Amino acid sequence: MSEAKVLTLDGPGGAGKGTISRLVAERLGWRLLDSGALYRLVALAAKRHGIALDDEPALARLAAELDVVFLAEDESTRVLLEGDDVSRELRTEQVGDAASQVAGLNGVRQALLQRQRDFRQAPGLVADGRDMGTVVFPDADLKVFLTASPEERARRRHLQLQEAGVDASLSSLLKEIQARDARDMQRSVAPLKPAEDAITLDTTRLSIPEVVERLTEWLAERGLVPET
Ligand code: C5P
Repeated sequence: MSEAKVLTLDGPGGAGKGTISRLVAERLGWRLLDSGALYRLVALAAKRHGIALDDEPALARLAAELDVVFLAEDESTRVLLEGDDVSRELRTEQVGDAASQVAGLNGVRQALLQRQRDFRQAPGLVADGRDMGTVVFPDADLKVFLTASPEERARRRHLQLQEAGVDASLSSLLKEIQARDARDMQRSVAPLKPAEDAITLDTTRLSIPEVVERLTEWLAERGLVPET
């Protein structure tokens, strides 16, 4: 069976993966997997059901049974958890922080593995996360690790939150980003790191269209999309 193509985009938070993945997926007509949203949903569901963030068996069960619907819209994706629209709440720093705690639990990661692989459908998938190239899609056609300086990532996150009408201070965002990076890189299961065969792209001084262009070129060079 010939599998659908996969482009993996891994990297720390605020490196632009979300926006870039969406734009590349749109341009290619491929599906999109925002794997961070799944960890955020587990954290949010835990809060709703009063489950502690270190109760691994209960969180793994929750992850396996997650009742979630992704509705693709023009500029974003609407997310329904147990029938309720949680799209806004999902993006808050508190939920991101709780997500990074549940993401350190092997039982939760295992429970989400097949759900993530099921997104792989023809003609292709753009998978955004931390371990897309290392664990979830080790045989991906192109693996890219996107980075940017912590200061630049805090600045971008700040802008994104402002646009969404969420209040946050730049200095506290920088601290949170650094704490989350440290936790994501140091955990024993699926730590944040580039796959051995990934290309690392530092986006600190690149605009979003420049990054999208670079990725499209790399895909075309590998014969994954028609030359533009
Ligand atoms: O990318 P996003 O900020 O939505 O991810 C939230 C958290 O989920 C990350 O800080 C990380 O701990 C976790 N995550 C993960 N593996 C992924 C995607 C996200 O561990 N593939």
